[in-house]
Amino acid sequence: MEKPESVTNNDWKLLKVKYSNLKKIIKKIEQKYPVQYLIGHVDFFGYKINVNKNVLIPRFETETLVEKTIDYIKKLKLEKASLLELGTGSGCISIVLKKEIEDLNISTLDISKKALRVARKNAKLNKADITFINNDIFKFNPVNKYDILISNPPYITDKDETDYSIKYEPKLAIFAKDDGLEYYKHILSTCDKYLNKKNLIAFEIGDKQGNKLSKLAKKHFPNAKISLEKDLCDRDRFLFIINE
Ligand SMILES: C[S@@+](CC[C@H](N)C(=O)[O-])C[C@H]1O[C@@H](n2cnc3c(N)ncnc32)[C@H](O)[C@@H]1O
Repeated sequence: MEKPESVTNNDWKLLKVKYSNLKKIIKKIEQKYPVQYLIGHVDFFGYKINVNKNVLIPRFETETLVEKTIDYIKKLKLEKASLLELGTGSGCISIVLKKEIEDLNISTLDISKKALRVARKNAKLNKADITFINNDIFKFNPVNKYDILISNPPYITDKDETDYSIKYEPKLAIFAKDDGLEYYKHILSTCDKYLNKKNLIAFEIGDKQGNKLSKLAKKHFPNAKISLEKDLCDRDRFLFIINE
């Protein structure tokens, strides 16, 4: 059986071990079904993260979000801080942060019970002690206060050009109304209620949303340091808001 061009040698090896009927699998791959779902896991920041059709496949850019956030946490001496992630999906962000900075006290939230099931299993697999919350970002009213807020929320609109794999990923993890900004708008207008005065906010954003979101951040946090940062392809993909 010949390896489809779009599949890496390594992934092909894993598929051969996992499936006896490769014909069926090749058909799925030809229909652009994500290889990551067929293999069942990805490598994210050096950690094994299981994935299935109920969670977004972790992206390379999100590894950069995590890397930059770790740098900020260290620079701001927030290693013992409490951190809230909004929209956990597979749990990849929170799990890596907990593994890399073990004194962080991490809570992570998702509206999808099916995604949380995957995230909990991933936390167990990686021995990461994290609190999981099943709630809606738009209704969440936390009693606790946090020092760090991180989120890679849905930000794609139905007008955006998207790659094929998105067709098979949960719509809930991808699409957002209001120019794709509805989640950021809600989070930025409510988070001062549950963030401590000194805080760090870290967002992954769409590459055309940087200017609007920087202005919005400035409006809500006029005294903060606001930093729009690039991914490895030189696109504006991260927004950091630092309230010292
Ligand atoms: C873009 S995915 C990010 C997943 C993961 N953090 C990552 O970076 O790979 C967004 C996540 O937000 C969750 N989500 C969408 N709408 C939500 C809402 N209203 N309340 C809570 N979680 C929501 C989705 O279920 C999905 O897991």
